[in-house]
Amino acid sequence: MQLPFIEPYKIKMVESIKRSTLEERKHWIKEAHYNLFNLTSDQVMIDLLTDSGTGAMSDKQWAEIMLGDESYAGSSSFVKLKDRVTNLTGFPYFIPTHQGRAAENVLFSALVKANDLVPGNSHFDTTKGHIEFRKATAVDCTIDEAFDTSVYHPFKGNVDIKKLEEVLRSNPIEKIPLVILTVTCNTAGGQPVSMQNIREVAAVCKRYKVPLYFDSARFAENAYFIKTREDGFANQSIKEIVKEMFSYGDGMTMSAKKDGIVNMGGFIALRDTEVYQKCVTFNIMYEGFITYGGMSGRDMGALSQGLDEATEFDFLESRIQQVHYLGQRLVEFGVPVQQPFGGHAIYLDANKFVPNISPEEFRAQSLAIELYITAGIRGVEVGTILADRDPITRNNRYPKLELVRLAIPRRTYSLSHMEYVAVALKNIYETRHEAKRGYSIKWEAPIMRHFTVQLEKLV
Ligand code: F0G
Repeated sequence: MQLPFIEPYKIKMVESIKRSTLEERKHWIKEAHYNLFNLTSDQVMIDLLTDSGTGAMSDKQWAEIMLGDESYAGSSSFVKLKDRVTNLTGFPYFIPTHQGRAAENVLFSALVKANDLVPGNSHFDTTKGHIEFRKATAVDCTIDEAFDTSVYHPFKGNVDIKKLEEVLRSNPIEKIPLVILTVTCNTAGGQPVSMQNIREVAAVCKRYKVPLYFDSARFAENAYFIKTREDGFANQSIKEIVKEMFSYGDGMTMSAKKDGIVNMGGFIALRDTEVYQKCVTFNIMYEGFITYGGMSGRDMGALSQGLDEATEFDFLESRIQQVHYLGQRLVEFGVPVQQPFGGHAIYLDANKFVPNISPEEFRAQSLAIELYITAGIRGVEVGTILADRDPITRNNRYPKLELVRLAIPRRTYSLSHMEYVAVALKNIYETRHEAKRGYSIKWEAPIMRHFTVQLEKLV
């Protein structure tokens, strides 16, 4: 019999989970205006809101915390991190920021202006937010297969080259300051981009002289999928694959809270001296001096170590196998999920799960609330509420996919936690026909409404 896979670590410290009752959770979620972001963490038993900044650091990362150099300028922790990033990615310039969206803010301040177009594969909401905030437009060129949860495609994060070329051909090129490739593509369901597609996108960008940047939050998970799904990469190390991926780009923004396995941090890395110099000015204004950019020295040390661990095959295998264990159990129970499973999360297909609830009453949000009430599990809506309103018409935007994301933090939960989540969903699925009404919006912010929206239960 083949030995099962095991996590390549053992546990040195534990954190208690506070248990709660159904009645308590009904009361808390009402008090929270039916917005899961408003719950306190002790009201949640298994927190799958995000895999961002919620992972467990290793003993070696904690050792780096003690070694942190807190000098304002030129700290050894900065040098350590810069060397790690340059070694991993090949990009010579490196600017730390306090998180991923801060990296976007600095880079886009240097590159994006009003009326510009920024093509890419389903931009993440902060990326889109920073583009739209500058009165520019994010153009989604993802392949059509990404929007059908039942179709199998090994690289659903891929860009449709025809769609991309069409945008580049039919617009003045000075209106397109960059193309952004998000690896893995969070909005499309944590789906990877193949090396072949990266090469093709880079070739098109080169032909039109448009720079290519990566939104790299989950670059290591993307490399894992290339190694395990794409011909010709089985014998390459994750670090070799990562190096090749980035060799086709001009730069990257990074949310280190994901594949850096730290609780806070981010950076920009790039090749172009002129863009670097522009970014430096904005970084100093928004983030801090260029050798810390919003991070403590100790955090930069922990990130350097985390980037090394996150690009080890054994770590990635156990992480992604854990996510897929949950996905597989849900499939066995007949629960509709996005396939193939994403790298960092399992996505429930709310359109198929609760078709009796009208789309105007927020299907995915309704399902996420039910999961919380039933079992104390916090996921997040990736659907109509997140998609926000059209900036011009102010109408709700109804995305093709209406999902609940169950994001799995790195090295934090065990397989029995995954089993608990799977069984909770099985039970909800069996009684899904009873769910007929959803929620209406009582109050919302003009942009990024999902974080603070207040809802009312419809009966
Ligand atoms: N890009 C991607 C693909 C992301 O998933 C995120 C964050 C960001 C950029 C922004 O990074 O949070 O460090 O400012 N995603 C989190 C999530 C919030 O839950 O998926 P940040």
